[in-house]
Order: sequence, then structure tokens, then C-alpha cells
Amino acid sequence: MNGIAIRALVVCTLLGGSFAQSASAEQLSGYAFVKDETRAMQDDDFANPGLIAVETGAALFTTPFRDGGGTCAECHGSEGEKLDVQRIAAYPVYDAETKSIVTLQDRISGCRSKIANDALPANHRDLMALETFVRNRAHGVPVSVDTEGAERQALLERGEVLYETRYGLIDMSCHVCHTVYAGQYVRGQKISQGQTNGFPAYRLGTGEMANLNLRIIQCMNLMRAEPFRADSEEIKLLEYFLSARSNGLPIETPAVRY
Ligand code: HEC
Ligand code: HEC
Repeated sequence: MNGIAIRALVVCTLLGGSFAQSASAEQLSGYAFVKDETRAMQDDDFANPGLIAVETGAALFTTPFRDGGGTCAECHGSEGEKLDVQRIAAYPVYDAETKSIVTLQDRISGCRSKIANDALPANHRDLMALETFVRNRAHGVPVSVDTEGAERQALLERGEVLYETRYGLIDMSCHVCHTVYAGQYVRGQKISQGQTNGFPAYRLGTGEMANLNLRIIQCMNLMRAEPFRADSEEIKLLEYFLSARSNGLPIETPAVRY
């Protein structure tokens, strides 16, 4: 079998046949693409499994990270009430000093390192729980990533290039699924626009929480591609581009998604 035949087979298997072209200029949360019962689960404070991560994060927020103390609450209030929800809604941010993108997880990890002796690896479950707790504080606040200025524009363009690059065995880009085919089905799931306002989210498919970073890795696995490393510049450029693309959508954390 030649390369093209293999690719066609993989794409057909993945997508369960062909799908019609449909592109919509309308910006919609992933919430609009899930099943009714998934939406109901997200909206029900007793049924939403993501709220367990919020509670875990709330507990970690007041737990000392090393012997002798040091907690998030010391600086940010016992329920994080001193954190500014508008700033939380603006992540990822561009740090002009280091000329790099700082995700919410990076910020939390950086704050944690001030008190802990050890640094946690990206997407560690404790970091994810803290991220879920913090982002949940901004529930309902519209995503508002700063896109002003030449440096930010240049980073967004690099993120867009990555979004439009074809990867992996199926040789498809994020753009093909999440812009061109949004609203079509893949393996019985409706493909959404790949918006970021639900993250970190509870995934029914894995039974675990995923932040945006992990969700991108999971999509790259779905594409049969070698995923970007969780702490790579590439994945942060994608996170920044996708998040700016979600500007205006209200934060749903913790969303429930397939
Ligand atoms: C020693 C004080 C201190 C501790 C302890 C601390 N932070 Fe921070 N945190 C800060 C400061 C100062 C900023 C503002 C940083 C900036 O603007 O560059 C900040 C920013 C943040 C932000 C971004 C929102 C904003 O207002 O800019 C989040 C989220 C955050 N911290 C979470 C945490 C978490 C979670 C922990 C525990 C792991 C923690 N912090 C521990 C001092 C602290
Ligand atoms: C083969 C099609 C396909 C490709 C290619 C693909 N994804 Fe996905 N993606 C999905 C499916 C299916 C889901 C789960 C349903 C949904 O939310 O769209 C998903 C979910 C997502 C979500 C979660 C949206 C939400 O609201 O929960 C994000 C973000 C995302 N993908 C980003 C990406 C990025 C970034 C790339 C490129 C690296 C990519 N995807 C490539 C099919 C794809």
C-alpha cells in the first residue's frame, strides 16, 4: 500500500466516512457541540465531575507546599478572593521581559516554586487541579487575551501557522478539523471549533481532567502525530493563538466534554 492509500484509509477510519464541507464564521463554545445530556451534566453542580478537581484545587490552595508552610492562600486569600478574575481571563499572557508566553499553568507553577522545594512537571495533576480551581473563579467572565502590539501579533501569527500545519499519519491540520469541518462528526463525536473557554475540562472519553495543553496533545495523538512536548514553545504558541481566537466567549471551567 502506498502512502496516499494508507493516509486515505486512516482518515476514513478516523472520520467514519466522508464529511461535507461546512465552515461557519460564527464563534461557538464547545458547549454548543456536545450532546444534550453532556450539557445537562456540566450545568448541574451535583453531576459535573469537573467540580471534584475544583475542590481538590481549593484544598491544595490552602495546603503548605513544604515543611514549615507556604501556601497560595497566604498571598491570594484563602479562597483566592484576592486574585483578579479579569487577569485570570486574560491568560495566556505575553511576558515582555522574557519575551515568552506564560500560560496560567506556568504562572501557577512559577508561584508555587517560590514556596516549594520541588517543581512539578507540566500537566501534573496538582497543577491541573490548581489551574481548574483558579480558572473556575473566573466562571462567566469572557476570555480576554491581549493581542495588542507587534510582539503579540508576531506570536499569534506563528501560532496560526502551527494551527494550519499538517501533522502526523493522517496529514491533517488543526484547521481542517476545527475550522473547515466544525459541526461534522468524527467517531460519533461532533467536531467543535476547538475553543478554549471550557478548560480545564472534564473529559468523558478519558474520565480525567484535561487542560488546554493536554487536550492539544490528545488531538495530536488522534492525528497519529508525535505531540509537541507539554512545555514546548510550539504548544504555548498554539494555546495563545487558540485562546485569542476564543476572546469574548464566557469561561465555563470546568466544562464537560467528550
Ligand atoms: C509570595 C506570594 C505568592 C504566593 C505564595 C503565590 N503567589 Fe500567585 N502571584 C503572586 C504575585 C505577586 C502575582 C502577580 C504576578 C505578576 O503580575 O507578574 C501572582 C499571580 C498569580 C496568578 C495570576 C493572576 C494575577 O492576578 O496575575 C495566579 C493564577 C496565581 N498567582 C496563582 C497562585 C497559586 C495557585 C499559588 C500557589 C501554588 C500562588 N499563586 C502562590 C504572589 C504569590
Ligand atoms: C481529525 C480531526 C481533528 C484534528 C486534526 C484535530 N482535532 Fe482537536 N478535536 C477533535 C475532536 C473529535 C475533538 C472532541 C470534540 C470537540 O470538542 O471538538 C477535539 C477537541 C479539541 C479541543 C477541545 C474543544 C472543547 O471545547 O472542548 C481543542 C482545544 C482542540 N481539539 C484543539 C486541536 C488542535 C490545537 C489541533 C491541532 C494540533 C487539533 N485539535 C486537531 C478532532 C480533531
